Amino acid sequence: MSETAKIELDGKTYEFPVVVGTENEKAIDISKLRDTTGYVTLDTGYKNTGATKSAITFLDGELGILHYRGYPIEQLAEKATFIEVAYLLIYGKLPTQSELNDFSNSITKHTLVHEDMKQFFEAYPAKAHPMGVLSSMVCSLSTFYPESLDPNRSPEAKDLTIHRLLAKLPTLAAWSYKNAMRHPFMYPKNNLDYCSNFMYMMFGMPTEDYTVDPVIVDALNKLLILHADHEQNCSTSTVRIVGSSQANLYATISAGISALWGPLHGGANQAVIEMLEQIHNDGGDVDKWVAKAKDKEDSFRLMGFGHRVYKNFDPRATIIKKACDDVLEKLGINDPMLEIAKKLEKVALEDDYFKARNLYPNVDFYSGIIYKALKIPTEMFTVMFAIGRLPGWIAQWKEMTENNEPIGRPRQIYTGETPRDYVEISKR
Ligand code: SDX
Repeated sequence: MSETAKIELDGKTYEFPVVVGTENEKAIDISKLRDTTGYVTLDTGYKNTGATKSAITFLDGELGILHYRGYPIEQLAEKATFIEVAYLLIYGKLPTQSELNDFSNSITKHTLVHEDMKQFFEAYPAKAHPMGVLSSMVCSLSTFYPESLDPNRSPEAKDLTIHRLLAKLPTLAAWSYKNAMRHPFMYPKNNLDYCSNFMYMMFGMPTEDYTVDPVIVDALNKLLILHADHEQNCSTSTVRIVGSSQANLYATISAGISALWGPLHGGANQAVIEMLEQIHNDGGDVDKWVAKAKDKEDSFRLMGFGHRVYKNFDPRATIIKKACDDVLEKLGINDPMLEIAKKLEKVALEDDYFKARNLYPNVDFYSGIIYKALKIPTEMFTVMFAIGRLPGWIAQWKEMTENNEPIGRPRQIYTGETPRDYVEISKR
């Protein structure tokens, strides 16, 4: 006998089914609530609301668990490549060697961007934030592929758009950096793997050979895997709701990039490094800055700390923190920001304010230190997050479209003026 939830309203008792997931998460299915009771629920920020059922990512905030399609993130970060994980998230299984070859070759084939798009870059000021460029460029891809405007045209057309996006995002990202530097654009090379190609397009120059350090490629693969999906976070929820209107995938992903930009979300990795540099330039007194983060009168927050879901260590932060030590040692880099980050973490984790609120380092706390070691400029950190999150956004959008989910349209409780008559301007 499946469980039900009983709600007493206006002297009547209503029963609603309880949904139980494969990891024993439970939800009250209120899809008939308004029709049967006339009531809606209110949950600002959706802190207690499940938007959908999904088979892609499972996370347990209390235990610090993260699985992609059932595979623990620790194993994927250690053993898989980013393109392999992208295939897993989007198609639901680890690819065979031949499936991976076909997928990877198809992506390689689409890494070029239409030559006319280069003119778009030239119109941006050098100081243009690359997230603004990327979001616009991705939406503009839809104008070069009009057949993509119908996202449900055919499975083959859907796959082609998916492969084009995975292929062109790194190219657009690298070119936004080259444009800001007013350096010549580097074209992708078909003989390079996904991460090596990105680093080549970022830092290669036509005047000299550029070979990518395998330490850097390994670190980038790991970082992108760790960012690849995270169930119904802000930007993924944005992708699902924009996609639910049957907007094309380019416009849908462009919306996800814009949502990720915010400093409370993906923009936090840039904000963390800016915060560490601010503390370093202020003399490195972490106690002073932890006190500021606790002071309700002070708008300062410890960026990279806290999480809507994780009330324990973010498992990604644990992996990235270790990768930080490995990468900096292998590259022979001694970054004072890492020492400040570790001191900040230690002080905060021993502080009652942070302990009482279950505030731990999240994925963004250490990632910027590695990106810095890879010589990626701070303003490109959130772009790196977007490249990593792209397969997750695509997988979630694909699941939503294939489940024929309805257009997202939440309700509200109106708290404005009650009806009143128009007043002529002469009488106001
Ligand atoms: C990402 O959702 C995801 O999965 C996101 C993400 C993904 O992979 O997609 O994991 C990626 O976005 C990670 C989060 C990156 N953001 C930051 O690091 C910004 C700093 N962190 C916060 O602003 C905050 O912790 C959030 C936004 C992450 C979570 O905010 P919530 O869940 O809305 O919690 P809240 O703001 O209501 O905070 C609860 C309490 C408050 O204090 P009280 O009102 O109870 O006294 O904790 C305090 C907050 O003031 N608090 C902090 C804090 N974070 C929360 N105090 C100081 N420093 C912080 N960082």
